[in-house]
Amino acid sequence: MTTAPEYVAPEYVTYAHMDRLHELARPRSDARGELNFILISHVKELLFRAVIDDLDTARGALERDDVPDACLALSRATRTQRVLVACWESMNGMSVDEFIAFRHVLNDASGTQSFAYRALEFVMGNRPPGQVEAAFRDGHAMLRAELARPSLYDEVLRHLARQGFSVPDECVERPPEQQHEANPLIEDVWLEIYRHPDRHHAAHRLAESLLEVAYQFSCWRATHLLVVERMLGGKSGTAGTDGAPWLRTINEHRFFPELWTFRTRL
Ligand code: HEM
Repeated sequence: MTTAPEYVAPEYVTYAHMDRLHELARPRSDARGELNFILISHVKELLFRAVIDDLDTARGALERDDVPDACLALSRATRTQRVLVACWESMNGMSVDEFIAFRHVLNDASGTQSFAYRALEFVMGNRPPGQVEAAFRDGHAMLRAELARPSLYDEVLRHLARQGFSVPDECVERPPEQQHEANPLIEDVWLEIYRHPDRHHAAHRLAESLLEVAYQFSCWRATHLLVVERMLGGKSGTAGTDGAPWLRTINEHRFFPELWTFRTRL
């Protein structure tokens, strides 16, 4: 009997380590939905990183006052965010009984422990003191590195200050780990830009691109909440929160706050 020749991985497999990638999905149960749950979780983690990468590019462009490049990077981030939202569709193929069949194998694993998700929030500017403290205490190195840098929104405000807009000093001179608090004077800046979009064309384009990033992030959170209600009803989460009610509060948060609130006065 002749033995089958040994498998030699072609370049597609070796280039991006596809064999190792596939090895990472290891269900702990025989339940039907668990493999898909792990695969979609992996996909989302990787896409969080892709969004971080584009937002970081946008931040770099703003440091150089290059608004067209920043907008290009933000629109790329937005495309990936739409894919992130669409990923919930795949997870929704699982029925609640299929989820319950393997939920116990998660132990206390929870999305709250995703350092890539937290890094994405930090990049965008959501740096609540509790999360910052946790990151400095025992967080992933990626989080501490991020907290040493101004957020994307910080760089937006610094850029606007350099363009001559009346951005208060405390908004551009804060230590980077301290998050920006909504400020009515920044609302005034966005009001001026939206009252005269032709005069402030670049800043207006930038604002629209930023709002789309914030909007897509909120869509992701809102859809996550719906999936949680679908899978858990009123059950508590694996991180020990009360589940849907906790996520409902999180859903009220808005990135780039004055970009949402100035509209009331327009
Ligand atoms: C059946 C599917 C899912 C359920 C039932 C679920 C449930 C929950 C619950 C109840 C929480 C609140 C914290 C807790 O007590 O655990 C939470 C938080 C979170 N989940 Fe999910 N989740 C699901 C899928 C996913 C997936 C696929 C991801 C992405 C990889 C994800 C990412 C997150 C993140 C990032 C948080 C923290 C949000 C924040 O801190 O603002 N979840 N999830």
